[in-house]
Amino acid sequence: MRAHEAGALHGDIGSRGPAWLRPPADVNALVPQLWPRNVTRGADGALTVAGLDVRAVAAEFGTPVYVLDEDDLRSRCRDFRSAFADEDVYYAGKAFLCRAVVRMVAEEGLHLDVCTGGELAVALAAGMPPERIGFHGNNKSVAELTRALDARVGRVILDSFDEIDRLTALARERGVRPRVLVRVTVGVEAHTHEFIATAHEDQKFGFSLAGGAAAAAALRVLDEDVLELRGLHSHIGSQIFDADGFEVSARRVLGLQAQIRDARGVELPELDLGGGFGIAYTTQDDPAAPQDLAKRLRRIVETECLVQRLAVPHLSVEPGRAIVGPSVFTLYEVGTVKDVDGIRTYVSVDGGMSDNIRTALYDASYSATVASRASTAEPLLARVVGKHCESGDIVVKDEFLPADVQPGDLVAVPGTGAYCRSMASNYNHVPRPPVVAVRDGRARLIVRRETEADLLALDVG
Ligand SMILES: Cc1ncc(COP(=O)(O)O)c(C=O)c1O
Repeated sequence: MRAHEAGALHGDIGSRGPAWLRPPADVNALVPQLWPRNVTRGADGALTVAGLDVRAVAAEFGTPVYVLDEDDLRSRCRDFRSAFADEDVYYAGKAFLCRAVVRMVAEEGLHLDVCTGGELAVALAAGMPPERIGFHGNNKSVAELTRALDARVGRVILDSFDEIDRLTALARERGVRPRVLVRVTVGVEAHTHEFIATAHEDQKFGFSLAGGAAAAAALRVLDEDVLELRGLHSHIGSQIFDADGFEVSARRVLGLQAQIRDARGVELPELDLGGGFGIAYTTQDDPAAPQDLAKRLRRIVETECLVQRLAVPHLSVEPGRAIVGPSVFTLYEVGTVKDVDGIRTYVSVDGGMSDNIRTALYDASYSATVASRASTAEPLLARVVGKHCESGDIVVKDEFLPADVQPGDLVAVPGTGAYCRSMASNYNHVPRPPVVAVRDGRARLIVRRETEADLLALDVG
């Protein structure tokens, strides 16, 4: 370790990357599970998506650009739809939402989960049947609830006693009886490969099970004749690879279901187990197929229902990342390549934390490849960074790129469909990139690039 005046932490630089990351035998090879299904390297070495050369995409739409393999997205919707054939699959729109994607998921038979008035507006503008929309959120305003009621959304997922009051008053005023779920915080936290089951539930979402708020909320809603309580809801985390967390959460939430039956003689007909199914960002991630997930979740619920002597409720799930995440890659152009004192090579691209905040926010790992050509150079461990004024502006922490990577190369980062464009910002007044859907060799702009004029239009001073 080199000495550093700022201390040992800063001195621990120039690592060889994580232990699992090995120099590839072929630096041009694509790891299939990281890429949309219709991405390949063409005969001349450049990537193609659904038959279209990415250089043509860059030439027409500029870089950075999010490239969506439409058939890949649709096939993932269908995989979930057929795996959960007797259940409802809500696409979690927070992962990425625009009108074209709403239409795609609707056409493929999915429902849609929205969690703000803005997401609801996009869903309705795209023609999503309102009865297939579930409306989430821990702080829905009166205006948002009013809009949801007026649109007749299928389910409102209740998240607080204040919201129960608000929705009750609004429903009474309007003479409607919305169908609702009560979101239960079950004390299970699952992220990546681990989960912990805790006794306390210290978070802003839902009603605490251990503290008794969830039972109180459900009984209260049952007492409100203008609300129709359809069931309970729980969502335990993100990037989950292991069904154990779902097992504990299902056991706890069905325990509450039994408690409600014992108190009121009512068996709630529905149960929503939320989303959070993991995807592969690197070779270290090994996601389950939707068929396997469906089988495991069904078995878990059936077993718990047997124990509690409950009829098996109608299930729903809410995958976001697992549907849109793998369908998109971001295409950047390299601007500079800097070898810092032999410690590390920084490859700077023309985007960064404004189009992908996940690396900075969650310490997320990604992979990357040079997309505009194949190379015969040796693999070189590099860090792909953005153009923002922040040293944490990292897109891909560690990846082997060809040692001749140079300005003008296109670099593609896969797995950027979820929580990248939807969390994009204008930091440093960098306009947000467009989203281009490619199908059958043709590219279609579905979200246009923001312009400096857009940014200045908001600046009315
Ligand atoms: C209630 C709820 N459902 C579904 C999701 C989607 O999660 P994922 O995209 O990880 O599947 C989230 C994510 O935060 C959520 O809060």
